[in-house]
Amino acid sequence: MPTITVPLGARTYPVHIERGLVSHLGPTLREALGECAVMIVTDDNVAPLYLKQVQDSLEEAGFRTGSVVLPHGEQTKCLDSLISLYNDLCAMGVTRKDAVLALGGGVIGDLAGLAAATYLRGVRFVQVPTTLLAQVDSSVGGKVAVDLPQGKNLVGAFYQPEAVFCDPETLNTLTDEYWRDGLGEVIKYGCIGDETLFALLERCAPGGREALMAEIDVILTRCVQAKADVVAQDERDTGLRMTLNFGHTVAHAVETCQHYEGLRHGEAVGLGMHVITRLTERKGMTEPGTADRLDALLSGLGMPMTLPDIPEEQLLAAMGHDKKNAGKTLRIIALERIGKCFIHQTDTGFFQGIT
Ligand code: NAD
Ligand code: GLY
Repeated sequence: MPTITVPLGARTYPVHIERGLVSHLGPTLREALGECAVMIVTDDNVAPLYLKQVQDSLEEAGFRTGSVVLPHGEQTKCLDSLISLYNDLCAMGVTRKDAVLALGGGVIGDLAGLAAATYLRGVRFVQVPTTLLAQVDSSVGGKVAVDLPQGKNLVGAFYQPEAVFCDPETLNTLTDEYWRDGLGEVIKYGCIGDETLFALLERCAPGGREALMAEIDVILTRCVQAKADVVAQDERDTGLRMTLNFGHTVAHAVETCQHYEGLRHGEAVGLGMHVITRLTERKGMTEPGTADRLDALLSGLGMPMTLPDIPEEQLLAAMGHDKKNAGKTLRIIALERIGKCFIHQTDTGFFQGIT
């Protein structure tokens, strides 16, 4: 199985990628954790699909297990769920040598990770991501959080897992909507640092999801490697890690204006990459032809290509371009060309005329 290492000194950990892994996770996990109890946290979409096979496999390998099934969706990533998880961990008698296992997408990973980071000042944590987004992004890098009514991810920590186990076959049960969601981030990795990945995606695009799934091991490996490289150099998100935000300035603005009820995050990221690259190419900052190449891939993979009908001043305000922020420095990620990005310091007004 391909294994990528996230090299973080004493907190170095492996990301294993293997088809069918969820059904025989027990022995592999036993090697990683030794003897301990494991609390599996999942949601009500993932539980009927994968909980029994994971739990059976863990029990067969000698783990004492418990499980918590939470409602699916972003609204679960909140303080109330965190408190309810603490209660479950107390009831199971989880100690510091025991582990929390997140089985699900980014919502479950972020929430269970924050519970693991804080319960008893930190218990062991393992990620078994089951969405494309979680496999290529949220399960690697140690950002864990819950949302507040005031905004997303406002209470959180950097808390690295002890290991990540990706089973690409779990992606077969994802809806097309969540598949596209993860695809936005996959394309992003190609754009910012991996032209070989980008070219592979171009070759697969005409065959759609099926063709991409045929190459999924390579795709996941390249994405996770890219994330591991960035996280290793900037775990605490003070510089280079910002490059993972390519396309995100516009994406966040669109999501905010749509009150998170319109485009999915990855779709908004796709749109954001399209908008920023058209803009920077027009401004002479990006190699000519880059935007056409990116747009062909985005549209070939069914990503939305037109900004929703949102007044420009509202979009700019959501990016911090309101009067209060006039003159405020803004750092954006732009492409020099496909496979190479840079951080550009600019100010308000950069995005004027995008709609
Ligand atoms: P999600 O966890 O809500 O999962 C998406 C949907 O797919 C859910 O309905 C879920 O029940 C379902 N699902 C999960 N796996 C499935 C499977 N194999 N088959 C069928 N259905 C399945 O959302 P997500 O897109 O995975 O993650 C989004 C969250 O991740 C957001 O809260 C975001 O803030 C967070 N995030 C965190 C980081 C990080 O670095 N920690 C990075 C990016 C995003
Ligand atoms: N998803 C961006 C990061 O992990 O920093």
